[in-house]
Formats: sequence, structure tokens, C-alpha cells
Amino acid sequence: MPTMLEVTGLNHRYGSGDGAHVAVKDLSFSVDAGQLACIVGPSGCGKSTLLRCIAGLIPPTDGSVSLHGDAVNGVPDDLAVVFQDYSRSLFPWLTVARNVEFPLRWRKLGKQERAERAQEALDAVGLSGVGRKFPWQLSGGMQQRVSIARALASKPALLIMDEPFASVDAQTRFELEDLLRRVQREQRTTILLVTHDIDESVYLGDRVLVLSKSPATIVADLPVDLPADRDQIATRESAKFVALRGEVARLLQTVPAKQAAPEQQADEDVATADAAEWTATEEAATENAGSAKETSH
Ligand SMILES: Nc1ncnc2c1ncn2[C@@H]1O[C@H](COP(=O)(O)OP(=O)(O)OP(=O)(O)O)[C@@H](O)[C@H]1O
Ligand SMILES: [Mg+2]
Repeated sequence: MPTMLEVTGLNHRYGSGDGAHVAVKDLSFSVDAGQLACIVGPSGCGKSTLLRCIAGLIPPTDGSVSLHGDAVNGVPDDLAVVFQDYSRSLFPWLTVARNVEFPLRWRKLGKQERAERAQEALDAVGLSGVGRKFPWQLSGGMQQRVSIARALASKPALLIMDEPFASVDAQTRFELEDLLRRVQREQRTTILLVTHDIDESVYLGDRVLVLSKSPATIVADLPVDLPADRDQIATRESAKFVALRGEVARLLQTVPAKQAAPEQQADEDVATADAAEWTATEEAATENAGSAKETSH
């Protein structure tokens, strides 16, 4: 698969001087076209900052981002973002259909084609009959489906999602997770999704990138070798799922925070400490994966 997103040596620092805060540190990874990559990391580690840099909403302090080979220097036309707070991301004075059509105004599309695209996207998220309603007439889960439909309607090269299901109840969350995987596979959308929910990252992802505490660096890039067809009960009970979620949890627990502006020596000390923890973590993960497999027979 060709590379859709390439992030190279990304750094982001808020402010300068004594009050400076390094939120993202020397982060590099790429996402293949059609892949659903999840990013999981502790609260405040820099996940949203990373997404904002990738989306071109804020410029990185250092490093580069490219989308299908083009450097990102501002929000690309073919990129869509879904945020956690659906209640603030939809326009209450526009109908659901008009909300979904809204970003298409800047595309060279006729009125008819815009309406058709919006309807298609609403169909895809199971909201065929609600185009004429207003967002505030829908439940929270339905409103978040509208946000997803709006993102899909523009057929983005990359869909970025920042904790998209964090504001809905557990049952709705499961439904939205399954909806996202189904739509992603049908439309072959490339998705980069941030969550702080370990189970969600493993359930949804083709791959999980685990971030350190602040400033965010990548501590693991784990392929999720679960079957493509996933089921909220059977998949979550499977030995592979349990082993993977354990591995992610252990990584999140044991990797120490990096220092924001370390001296050279301090950097080396942290790196050494990391390496020691890594070895211990990997050994434990291997053991756990083995025992999980054993107990499954
Ligand atoms: N505009 C800003 N100015 C200064 N510091 C900021 C700004 N936005 C975020 N930060 C700081 O950068 C760090 C990373 O913030 P960010 O929102 O990226 O974390 P996050 O991982 O998304 O957190 P959460 O899990 O709570 O959503 C935090 O310490 C935060 O206080
Ligand atoms: Mg955030």
C-alpha cells in the first residue's frame, strides 16, 4: 500500500523561554493508504497537539508532515477532522443535511451533487431519514454520526479523529466503533484516531501507536493481528485481544516521562532507563502473550 501520511522528526513547543512547554518531541511515523491507525497515550501527553500539527491547524516547531507526498503547510483540502465534542462541532441553525453538505461548498460541485453526497454519507452511517431534522433534535450518538457523515462526505484522503467516542455512553460507543470499522473498510478511508481507551485502540486499529507521557514520543508501534471482522464480545474475549491490550497497558504504565528540555547527559540517562524498562516490559509482554495463548486452549 502507498504511504498516505508521513510524519518526520515532528516537534511542537508551546511558548518560549522559561514558560515554554514541549508537547511533542521528535516524532516520526507513517500511515499507509487504507489503514486505521490508533494513537493511545496518557492524558495531556500531547495527542491533540500532534493531530493539530498533522491537520495543518498549527505549524510544528520542527519537522515535517506530508500527505500523499505533498508537504502540509495549512489545512489540506482533502483532510477531515472529527472532534470529541459533537455538540459544538455541528451548526444548530442548519439541518442535518445542510451540516453534512457544508464543507462541500468549497468544492467544485453542483448543488445536486452536494445533496447526493450528503445523502450517501448519511446512508452510510445509518441516518437515512434524518436529513431534515436539526442536530439538537437528535441524541448524542446520532449527532456524532452526523459529524462522521460530514467528514466522509468530502471523501477525505485522511480522516483525523480526536477521541471521537469519548462523550457517548458505553453502548453507543460500541455501535459507533463498529460503524467506523465498517465504513472504513467499505470506503477504504485512511484514518488516524486518537483515544485514551486502551481497549478501543486495540479493537479499532489495524495498528496501535503507543505514546509516552509528555512530551509525546512513540514508545511502541504494534500491529493488531486480529481478524478484520471484529465483534464486540467475541473479539474482546479472544486471547490475542487480551494479550495485546495487556501489552499496551504495560507500556503505558512503565514508560517514564521524558524531560522537556534535558541536558545531553540527562537525555542519555533517560534513554538508558527507558531501555531497561523496555526490556522488562517486552519480556513481561512475551510471557503474557504466551500464557494468554495457553489459557485459550
Ligand atoms: N495552546 C496551548 N498553549 C500552551 N500549552 C498548551 C496548549 N495546548 C496544549 N498545551 C499543553 O500541551 C500539553 C499537551 O496537550 P494536548 O492537548 O496535546 O494533550 P492531550 O494528550 O491531547 O491531552 P488529553 O488526553 O487530555 O486530551 C499539555 O500539557 C497542555 O497543557
Ligand atoms: Mg486531547
